Amino acid sequence: MIFSFYACPRPAIYRSGFKCSKCNKSFTSKDIFLDLTVTSGTKEYSELKPARTELFRSPLVSFLYERGWRQNFNRSGFPGLDEEFQMAQDYFQPVAGGMLLDVSCGSGLFTRKFAKSGSYSAVIALDFSENMLRQCYEFIQQDDTLVNTNLALVRADISRLPFASCSIDAIHAGAAIHCWPSPSNAVAEISRVLKPGGVFVATTFLSSPRNNPFSVEALRPLRQIVGPVNTSYNYFTEGELEDLCKSCGLVNYSSKVQRSFIMFSGQKP
Ligand SMILES: C[S@@+](CC[C@H](N)C(=O)[O-])C[C@H]1O[C@@H](n2cnc3c(N)ncnc32)[C@H](O)[C@@H]1O
Repeated sequence: MIFSFYACPRPAIYRSGFKCSKCNKSFTSKDIFLDLTVTSGTKEYSELKPARTELFRSPLVSFLYERGWRQNFNRSGFPGLDEEFQMAQDYFQPVAGGMLLDVSCGSGLFTRKFAKSGSYSAVIALDFSENMLRQCYEFIQQDDTLVNTNLALVRADISRLPFASCSIDAIHAGAAIHCWPSPSNAVAEISRVLKPGGVFVATTFLSSPRNNPFSVEALRPLRQIVGPVNTSYNYFTEGELEDLCKSCGLVNYSSKVQRSFIMFSGQKP
């Protein structure tokens, strides 16, 4: 199922649900977000994602995220929300005026900034965590300056984006790739849904094999013997991130690094 999604003003997300005309699958609306996961609407069936995804579904972690958790990232070199937002805006300049998708938006700290900037025709906040989306909705509700913005909240798995190919101008993924179950599936999906000329911008923590004997990179030979360890975050070297973008068809790779922080960008040709 690939959903042809056009962002709509927030009142439209109060619909009770809808059916895909192509595959007949029904999707539910949880009042505040559209649930476009494959398991949307299931009553008995449930499945667990890796711990690095499940962690953020917890109500407590979702509540704490914007109330101290995220600020801790600055200790690893993250410049902080305002500067990260400005850096991302610079990368997105070629697609100003288009539709922006903030994947793994968490509580929507960047979504709100993108929506307020007036730089985009529509902004879609997407996350797998229902509780993060609830936090996101609450923060939006508390902010009067967002009342007339074209903003939609969607629940989806990054490995299966519910958007038509070549339909999105800008995709932002703040501090998220290390949490994704399969970064390669995710970046391939991102590349698929971007329009030609569309821009992908992401931040994450770099792994540093030279400094850290227990880094993912240093343990890679062991992983082949003992198998994948799904409980920890997936950190990458800059070379790996560039390689991943290229292998998913993105061009014009560029990056900015500050200690363990990296912001990188690629463009759909
Ligand atoms: C560390 S938070 C980042 C939040 C925000 N973008 C930021 O810059 O602070 C990581 C987010 O990735 C989301 N996430 C994890 N696995 C995901 C998946 N499979 N699909 C979509 N989002 C996922 C989590 O729910 C969480 O909100």
